[in-house]
Amino acid sequence: MDRLTITQPDDWHLHLRDGDRLISVIADTAARFGRAVVMPNLKPPVVSVAMALAYRERILAARPAGSGFDPLMTLYLTADTTPAQIQQVAATPEIIGVKLYPAGATTNSEAGVTSLDALAPVFEAMAEHAVPLLIHGESIDPADDVFDREARFVDGALTRLRARHGALKIVLEHITTADAVAWVNETGPLTAATITAHHLLLNRNAIFNGGLRPHHYCLPVLKRERHREALVQAATSAANTGKFFLGTDSAPHSIAAKHSACGCAGIYTAHAAIELYAEVFEDAGALDRLEAFASFHGPAFYGLPRNRATLTLVREPWTVPDTLSFGDELLVPLRAGERVRWRV
Ligand code: DOR
Ligand code: ZN
Repeated sequence: MDRLTITQPDDWHLHLRDGDRLISVIADTAARFGRAVVMPNLKPPVVSVAMALAYRERILAARPAGSGFDPLMTLYLTADTTPAQIQQVAATPEIIGVKLYPAGATTNSEAGVTSLDALAPVFEAMAEHAVPLLIHGESIDPADDVFDREARFVDGALTRLRARHGALKIVLEHITTADAVAWVNETGPLTAATITAHHLLLNRNAIFNGGLRPHHYCLPVLKRERHREALVQAATSAANTGKFFLGTDSAPHSIAAKHSACGCAGIYTAHAAIELYAEVFEDAGALDRLEAFASFHGPAFYGLPRNRATLTLVREPWTVPDTLSFGDELLVPLRAGERVRWRV
């Protein structure tokens, strides 16, 4: 197959940043995806409906001319989030869910959550109003091994949360381990997960290949090969009838922020997102299942219609630029200077 036409896909987990940086990156996403779930980890975080709606307006204004790209907004959960705010979210169709960052787990997560128990009334309101909870699933105990933090969180806090709030819709974001795949599979129809292209393509060797590779550093960190294989199986197999769908977690940082003594976590993939997923599905002999993963399962879980437009991929290798502009700085995209097999 050298040509593949699918229903236009959506990106169910994306970082768009703000200001000039937003203007630099949005065209990559808008050229591929009909909609994207936009993460709220700005500085300051997007903690209110008014902030989310104002951010949405800035995103709409930054779209390339003629683009119909539709940003689906999220609210950043903090210890101060109230059930009344959840009611407001439920009444605001532009906001699709609430994002849980364990405090300190990742970029701009300092305002995140330290006690899930204290937020029980908020989770109850979310279940009642069918507002999904989007979770960065990593433990924040500094004693936990960084490669084990997802499994720790799944076994511990997440299992308790699921048991206590059976009616809550949960999306476990950017899963990276066989443990998370198994948990999502075992956990009923109200639980789903997104999977990034980079976690499907790379294992943790990519962080240390011939030297330290900051552009392969993200959170949750890349894992060993057996976990990557479990993710590929979850995404591409016929058994994926809806629990696993596309979420790039494309997370741009400037070169200066990455090339630093304490480099930021995040991999930029929006410039080639659906093309990279196509490589994964092709290598798994499952190109015919890319459309369900990229375009059907996400809207089904969120209760939204599928996109009506289509997108065509052709097998036509191209070379990714070494750098892309990012506000008044530069970023290094995934595969910089190397080939991508498919083109939109
Ligand atoms: O690698 C990551 N980068 N993981 C996250 O959870 C956040 C993101 C970012 O915002 O840069
Ligand atoms: Zn993210």
